[in-house]
Amino acid sequence: MKTELNLFEHSYSLFRFPKLNNEQLQAWDAGDEYLIQHFEELKLPAGSRILILNDSFGALSCWFSEQHQVTTISDSFISHQGIKHNLALNHCKPIDLRTSTDEWPQQVDIVLMQIPRNNRYLTWQLNQIALKYRDNCSLIAVNKAKEIHSSTLKIFEKYAGHTTTSLAWKKHRLVFSELNSAYQETIDPYTTWPVAEHKLVLSNLPNVYSGESLDLGARFILEHLKSNTKYQDIVDLGCGNGVLTLKLKQLNPQANITAIDESFMAVKSAHHNLTLNNIALDGCEFVANNCLDGFLENSQDLVICNPPFHQQQAVTDHIAWQMFCDAKQVLRDTGELMVIGNRHLGYDKKLARLFGKHNVKLVASNAKFVILQATK
Ligand SMILES: C[S@@+](CC[C@H](N)C(=O)[O-])C[C@H]1O[C@@H](n2cnc3c(N)ncnc32)[C@H](O)[C@@H]1O
Repeated sequence: MKTELNLFEHSYSLFRFPKLNNEQLQAWDAGDEYLIQHFEELKLPAGSRILILNDSFGALSCWFSEQHQVTTISDSFISHQGIKHNLALNHCKPIDLRTSTDEWPQQVDIVLMQIPRNNRYLTWQLNQIALKYRDNCSLIAVNKAKEIHSSTLKIFEKYAGHTTTSLAWKKHRLVFSELNSAYQETIDPYTTWPVAEHKLVLSNLPNVYSGESLDLGARFILEHLKSNTKYQDIVDLGCGNGVLTLKLKQLNPQANITAIDESFMAVKSAHHNLTLNNIALDGCEFVANNCLDGFLENSQDLVICNPPFHQQQAVTDHIAWQMFCDAKQVLRDTGELMVIGNRHLGYDKKLARLFGKHNVKLVASNAKFVILQATK
């Protein structure tokens, strides 16, 4: 696996976060290289104000920090860590690193974007760019050619402006927009919808997982959440919009609940949803984090988890495994981990390996999902 990005006689050492011993995946892709090569041909003056959106692990931030004033915005806590580590490792000049829920910079000369997977987030970002920077700014975006559909380009045309694409290079394509869109309305970042059967309303920022309808796994596990006075400290690991936190807090008002997600927008939405549903915030914390990094051992009674199977563009089960290992560490001796997953993912075997076969029990199942409980 390559860790050196070499271009135009410059070299950067780049690692993903967290740094794994047997890492198979590179910290940048050909899209980053295509964007850098194209940008360098434009010969923009040194000191140009560059806004970088959705940089995965800092390849773009490191590269452009050398000559320009860089602001990077990312929704991912993991990307933030990767970007910080790689900037430090390569002794780069400081950049302005912001979360997706921070203010955007006042003025920029050019926006460079890794196109996000989620079209609602793409739409919102393009709307922000077009409304804030329409004069004297250009936008160059990049993605795998197979991910740039005609529907993607329609979103660019509508919300950013006149759009063209480059030839494909190493299976990637650049997208250029003139930021002259006739669409002048500010898109509401929140999408709001009811969960009638639980008398809840959910409101989600644009990059939140399952932000327009309830995840099917969440729908199933909601029916099996319990009230128990022994639950004093609960973690909702990978909280998304916080729907499980809401229900757990209603069932266990005595408990402290920590809602954790690696998406800054998820953590903010979870917080927002408690208030929206008039659920007391006392004892609740909302934390952007990588799994349970930095949490105390033997500190929790219940960890609830509907694990992800993607990280950035990669499909992977290493996050679920990390979440289960971390949960075991932070649970008290009497603590429980409750997990929901698709049947085919084999979480039962993973949990049995970690907790012992006799400490894993099936709580419920349907045609698609299993709910498992593991005790220490
Ligand atoms: C399947 S969703 C579950 C969301 C919500 N709990 C539900 O049930 O609808 C998984 C969540 O895990 C989050 N996630 C992914 N990687 C993570 C990590 N390393 N640490 C914490 N959260 C992570 C994702 O952002 C996503 O919100």
